[in-house]
Amino acid sequence: MFISVEGPDYSGKTTQVAVIKDYYESIGKTVTVTREPGGTEIGMKIREILVQEDSLNDPLSVTEQLLLLYTARLHHVDKVIIPALKRGEVVISDRYIDSTYVYQGLIYNHKEAIDELLQVPTLKHLISRPDYTFYYDIDFDTVLTRMAARGVSNKLDEKYAKLKELPIDAFKHHFYELNKKDPGAIKIIDGCQDMQTVKESTLEVSKAVLEAFGDIRAPYLERVLEIKSWTW
Ligand code: TMP
Repeated sequence: MFISVEGPDYSGKTTQVAVIKDYYESIGKTVTVTREPGGTEIGMKIREILVQEDSLNDPLSVTEQLLLLYTARLHHVDKVIIPALKRGEVVISDRYIDSTYVYQGLIYNHKEAIDELLQVPTLKHLISRPDYTFYYDIDFDTVLTRMAARGVSNKLDEKYAKLKELPIDAFKHHFYELNKKDPGAIKIIDGCQDMQTVKESTLEVSKAVLEAFGDIRAPYLERVLEIKSWTW
């Protein structure tokens, strides 16, 4: 079973990834936790370029960002995600394709390029959605409160201040639309609640999706292996 966990910065998603992992391990599952960009050695090098690119004299274009993200994703899927799923593990990725739809697609206005760039046969499996996506929904006031509580001013905060509400609205728009189309796979969790309540919601959803997993007609792994079998 492949789960992606998504949300804006300060949504608390990374803390909840640990909650999901601990829960599945407590009931005897083997879990691989991974992240994007990152997840592999090459992925971490690409992550360094992407998170620092704002400070470059000549920053990357959005198309260039996408090509780097896709290089990292291709490597990540083939070297980490598919092998772990083949071993029967639960894979949890802290960010995956929805971050690309939101950041490069909605925020940086390259919506059309996202799937278009993946139309070549050897990349088509990267369009496949995970079995489930947990989205931590927060509002801008909660972000500001959490930023103030941490009392840190780093590059990300500067970027946030510049973008104002944009990422929050883009995430909301993207996930509320997706949830309308596929409520079974897209789980919206209220990330504004206190930590204990968010944790309880996460546990409830984690339990529910595991129970429902057997009913998915074509799980992620099956779909991806099928696409690969006719495109490679
Ligand atoms: P993180 O610190 O939550 O791991 O996120 C790293 C940054 O990477 C975050 O600002 C969002 C960005 N990102 C994209 O712009 N596009 C993507 O496809 C992914 C996965 C992340």
